[in-house]
Amino acid sequence: TAVYRAGVVGRRPRVPVDAAALQAAASRTMSRRARAYVDGGAGEGATMRHNREAFDRWRVVPRVLHATTHRDLSRRVLATDLAAPLLLAPVGAGALVRPDSDLLIARGAAATGTPYVFSSQGCNPMEDTAAEMGTTPFWYQLYWSTHEPLVDSMIGRAEALGAQALVVTLDTTVLGWRPQDLSLGSLPFARGEGIAQYTSDPAFLALLRERVAAAQGPAEKVDVTLAAVRSLVSMTRRFPGRFVDNLRSPEPRAAVETFLGTYSNPALSWDHLATLRHRTSLPVVLKGVLHPDDAERALEAGIDAIVVSNHGGRQVDRSVASLDALVAIRDRVGPDPTVLLDSGVRTGADVFVALALGADACLLGRPHLYGLALAGAEGVAEVVENVVAELDLTMGLVGAATLDDIGRGLLVEGR
Ligand code: FNR
Repeated sequence: TAVYRAGVVGRRPRVPVDAAALQAAASRTMSRRARAYVDGGAGEGATMRHNREAFDRWRVVPRVLHATTHRDLSRRVLATDLAAPLLLAPVGAGALVRPDSDLLIARGAAATGTPYVFSSQGCNPMEDTAAEMGTTPFWYQLYWSTHEPLVDSMIGRAEALGAQALVVTLDTTVLGWRPQDLSLGSLPFARGEGIAQYTSDPAFLALLRERVAAAQGPAEKVDVTLAAVRSLVSMTRRFPGRFVDNLRSPEPRAAVETFLGTYSNPALSWDHLATLRHRTSLPVVLKGVLHPDDAERALEAGIDAIVVSNHGGRQVDRSVASLDALVAIRDRVGPDPTVLLDSGVRTGADVFVALALGADACLLGRPHLYGLALAGAEGVAEVVENVVAELDLTMGLVGAATLDDIGRGLLVEGR
């Protein structure tokens, strides 16, 4: 209603309200590298299409005369109170879209009271991003490093900052086959985008120091190296165009290479996850679960929640749609476990459908980056406001006063 009122008094939107127009406008403003990275998907893009087709198959069957003047969109998920069933998905290397991407996304998230899941591959140290969140909760997303001290260090930093959950992303033990990025020949991370979490980490810097020392010998050189690495992030920020020149010096390149060799672990297994019990006190969320067997096993292993996700179709092409996987997983695990969904969520009506099919909340991915591309923190906030406003109106129009009123009975599958 507030969004409509604003329109009545003549406030012009900063970003297109329509989801397709939002993407189109954002894509036009992004650099070729940013567009390839953000809009691109794995392989031929079939998974991305499946995500949208799955939403299109479901139809809402509104109820009438349900007295829904007052609607409550709030819900508690794990230890986090959500004003609306929405979080901002973790996104790495956002500096391709705008410098200081994480700070701006956090500012937009905080302006709307929407929790943000900080990425391991964020473009600002998590300490700085957390400062932007104010009192709005945030979660931390971990890519499990091959270097175990780094896993503990990242978790420790997130805990110290007050993150309310630890999200372990499982679908990116290696990067997927992404033709758009590969065709450009200049991959994300090549210029140090998305490594700020690492270059601000003592365990990473210690490892880097060892590696550089082993490669170069003299100890004096190492301090110079560390200074160079520490400035890497700010250089990316201040001189985005010229940053490639800075990479000619070997030290930042060593940082990028060390990052590439350690950020994720292809050998990740259930045994690694079992160690989390004594490594963190935070609720643990597994992101990237699609198979009901895996969902069941995760919950048996004491995991607190899962995010049904195919990483926005960026990892395995020809994957099952995330929404279809949600239905299968909910059928298997029953109504109680906390199950979130992302991949393909674009509108408030999409969130409604996901909730009706059993999601407790959704993560919004690419759309918030589109808001960032077009209008910075304000763009992020406006995209979120629009999604929540449409969900609110949909609830009012179909007779759902609370999120618990949204159920399978309000949907039919289309033919
Ligand atoms: C992502 N995603 C992601 N996920 C994660 O766990 N850690 C990360 O660092 C990133 N990085 C990232 C960068 C970009 C540019 C995109 C678009 C996505 C995946 C993200 O959290 C989410 O799962 C998807 O974005 C959901 O798909 P849609 O709705 O954006 O299509």
